[in-house]
Amino acid sequence: MNREDFPMFDQDIVYLDNGATTFKPKIVIDSIVDYYSNYSANAHRGDYSISYKVDVEFEKSRKKIADFINAELDEVVFNSGTTEGINTIVDGFFANLLEPGDEIVISKSEHASNVLPWFRLANKTGAKIVYAPLDSNLHITLEGIKSVISPNTKVIALAEITNVVGDIRPIKEITAFAHQNNIFVVCDGAQSVGHKKTDVKDNDVDFLFFSGHKMCGPTGIGVLYGKKELLEQIDPLNLGGGMNESFDNEKEMYLKELPHRLEAGTPNISGAIGLGAATDYLKSVGMENIAIYEQKLKSYLIDKLTKIEHIVIVNEEADSGIVAFNVDGIFSQDVAYYLNKYNICVRAGNHCAKILKNVTGVKNTIRVSLYFYNTTEEIDSLIELLQDKDKILKEMI
Ligand code: ALA
Repeated sequence: MNREDFPMFDQDIVYLDNGATTFKPKIVIDSIVDYYSNYSANAHRGDYSISYKVDVEFEKSRKKIADFINAELDEVVFNSGTTEGINTIVDGFFANLLEPGDEIVISKSEHASNVLPWFRLANKTGAKIVYAPLDSNLHITLEGIKSVISPNTKVIALAEITNVVGDIRPIKEITAFAHQNNIFVVCDGAQSVGHKKTDVKDNDVDFLFFSGHKMCGPTGIGVLYGKKELLEQIDPLNLGGGMNESFDNEKEMYLKELPHRLEAGTPNISGAIGLGAATDYLKSVGMENIAIYEQKLKSYLIDKLTKIEHIVIVNEEADSGIVAFNVDGIFSQDVAYYLNKYNICVRAGNHCAKILKNVTGVKNTIRVSLYFYNTTEEIDSLIELLQDKDKILKEMI
């Protein structure tokens, strides 16, 4: 779908690494070029026309993103991406809340950014990390979550879609259960927000964070969503210009209202404008259409892979367009290197989900992560190259 919108497809390339980052449509690139070419001033600081235009476009983007996830305007905080989002809430909110013995529920299939900040917090506070079980298909279920909850559980932090297993978690059901038990829910939306409809009023999560570059937007821009009354309790990680109302020489400081109190310093203006354009674009393609198309493509891929004897799929029951596998007996990175010779881009390795191997017993995989602009023809090219194991062995180095 919509390949003509993406300048990267002027190259002869099969791009199957959308979990790492997605290509950008021309409309997003143009919005960034327009900012730098025509109104390249700072935000929230100038008293002249082009600066005023920056303010208008920057806040217009915030509104587009708020609408995209069904949040209120002041619940959308711009930052550099998913990693900054999680670190902000762990260090600025949960660090003030957790006590020794409190429990943090995560899973072994989380990406490093939804593991390491919690590890550090647990080490600092004496809280305990508890792993929600993965079922035989490597999925998280509500029953599994219930089995690890205790009166000490304070927070459940899960990706809605994980970056290797590609399972879609029942976030809405988990949140409803968690809230009945006074437990916060933190949702890593890095792999989901650009792939399926997100509605924070409907799923009721307390915090959500995601990155622009995984949803047709620019790199270096992301969003932290939080319920207003929770965002208000965050200690900003960064203090500086743009986030304070005033301060005096007695060390008193008065911070701005949300969302600005969490956006110190000159923001990533072009990134925010580009991300706004990306949400417009994704809406025009249709989030439902994207999800349905990816499902079809994923089924096509799994069907083809299962027919190759020497392919071992790790997540045959993937819910999303993320499929991890190996060529039996060949190191995943050697396979990626071989595919690259034919202009096919896949990711190989542990994909930053470094404790997943303790469940699967598989340390490294080849990962294909699909997006709506991929095609069955591209999958056919991949399959043709994977079919001949002798050829892989001969050409991989
Ligand atoms: N988190 C990104 C990925 O899964 C980088 O590839």
